[in-house]
Amino acid sequence: MRIDKFICKSTELTRNEAKKVLKIGDVKVNGEVVKNAATQVHENNTVDIDGQILTPRTSRYIMVHKPLDTICSNIDEVYPSILNYVEVDKAFDLHIAGRLDADTTGLVIVTDDGRWSHNIISPNKECPKTYRVWLRNPIDKSAIERFKVGVQLQGEDGLTKPGLLEIIEEQEVLLTITEGKYHQVKRMFAAIGNKVVGLHRESIGIVELADLPLGEWRYLTEGEVDFFK
Ligand code: URA
Repeated sequence: MRIDKFICKSTELTRNEAKKVLKIGDVKVNGEVVKNAATQVHENNTVDIDGQILTPRTSRYIMVHKPLDTICSNIDEVYPSILNYVEVDKAFDLHIAGRLDADTTGLVIVTDDGRWSHNIISPNKECPKTYRVWLRNPIDKSAIERFKVGVQLQGEDGLTKPGLLEIIEEQEVLLTITEGKYHQVKRMFAAIGNKVVGLHRESIGIVELADLPLGEWRYLTEGEVDFFK
C-alpha cells in the first residue's frame, strides 16, 4: 500500500495532510525518513510519525439501507451520497460494492477492502443479488424461462447470464441475477417489453436487508464477511 494511504488508514489525517507530514520529513519507515507519498509499505514495516508508531485500522464491512434520491457515489451530486448515512470515521474513504440507481432503494454494501469487494462485484464470481421489482404491465409466466435462458440487452453482445424469476403477483416479482451491468434489471424487463416502476435490492449473497430501517446502517457480522472471502 502507498505510504500516504497507510497514514490515512492509521490516523485521522486526510490524504493531503498525510502528504504534508511526509514532505516535512516527519515520517520514518524502519527508522529511515521517507518523503515520497508513493512509497510502498508492507505489513512488516514499522512506520512512525514523530516517533509515534502507526497501526492501520482494520477493514470495515458495512451495509446500508439506501433511501430513494440518494446516490452510490463518493461525492454528493444532485442527490446526496449514501455515505452520508454511514456514521463512522472517514466514511467517504469507503467504497461501494455494487451501485444502485438514484431511484432504487435497498441493500448496499460499503467497505475499504478492495480485494473483498471484488468478490461481490466481479461478474466472474457470480455473486447472487436479489431485487424486488414492481412492473408497469402484468408479467407473463413465459418470462421465467426467458430469464433462465438469458435475454438480449440493447447494445450488449450476447445474452445475460441466467436470472431466476419468481412471480409474487401480476406486477410484482423477485429477480435474482449474478451480474451487475449498467441498469441491468430495468434493461432486462425492457428486453421483454415491460417496464420497471419500482426497484428494491433485498439481498447480496447471504446478506439480507431484512428489517434494517430505511437510511440506517450496521456492520456486517463475521459470518457475512467470511461468505465473500
Ligand atoms: N439494476 C437496475 O436497473 N438498477 C439498479 O439500481 C440495480 C440493478
